[in-house]
Amino acid sequence: MTVKRAAELLSTAGSGLALTGAGVSAESGIPTFRGEGGLWTKYDPVKVASIDYFMADPSAYWTSSRERARVALAARPNPGHRALAALEAAGHLVAVVTQNTDGLHQDAGTRRVIEVHGSGRTVQCLDCDNREPRSAVQARLDSEMPPRCAVCGGTFLKPTVVLFGEAMPQAAVGDAFALARAADVILIVGSSLAVYPAADIPVVAIRSGARSIIVNAEPTPLDPVADVVIHGRAGDVLPEIVELIGG
Ligand code: OAD
Repeated sequence: MTVKRAAELLSTAGSGLALTGAGVSAESGIPTFRGEGGLWTKYDPVKVASIDYFMADPSAYWTSSRERARVALAARPNPGHRALAALEAAGHLVAVVTQNTDGLHQDAGTRRVIEVHGSGRTVQCLDCDNREPRSAVQARLDSEMPPRCAVCGGTFLKPTVVLFGEAMPQAAVGDAFALARAADVILIVGSSLAVYPAADIPVVAIRSGARSIIVNAEPTPLDPVADVVIHGRAGDVLPEIVELIGG
């Protein structure tokens, strides 16, 4: 019944918006941060993913992020990502705002992806600003640690992701909140809604009058105020919603 109600809400949305988190990529093999098996149950995020840690020792940063990047770079979109792309293509979503940095929404075919925590697919030299694909840097880590800039030789090559202690990308955050204020339906998928300001995006949408749907494996702080709450796997639930709308 709840899946049917979610399909009804999305099928009549004129400015539907999705907000996604790590849970949407879990079925692609990328570990989440919190919840069962989450990364931050094994690592201290302030240690391995903060700008201070990176600036103090880029080699230590790259050594710890190397394995995670290998997994993320090899990952493929799953049925959850593809269902979101289908909802956009059918006009039920205007965009996907994501906290993820894995690029899988783009790979699945979503046209308007707003990455509020940046992208892990690109690496930037903090000395000369040159950018190159993460895959190219990843490929030379065996012979170069820390990796060096291909242009200036600098040793501060940083993935264009937002680390703890860094500012969020202003344009993306501005777009995300503008879309939230204009949304008539907000679909929240695979996020613990524990990290701000991203977790405020659905709050702003709901306060501005949007109906809300949550698809998440575990309870979230917004469950009590959401119109529809589905506790399940994104890769199971989202294709069901798409099928119900299509049928
Ligand atoms: P979290 O790891 O905090 O939350 C992921 C949520 O997805 C959890 O509530 C899980 O229960 C749920 N989940 C797991 N598998 C799922 C599945 N197959 N289908 C649906 N839900 C599933 O991830 P985020 O909320 O994205 O920040 O975390 C927010 C931010 O915290 C990240 O962007 C990252 C991290 O620090 C930065 O890197 C700046």
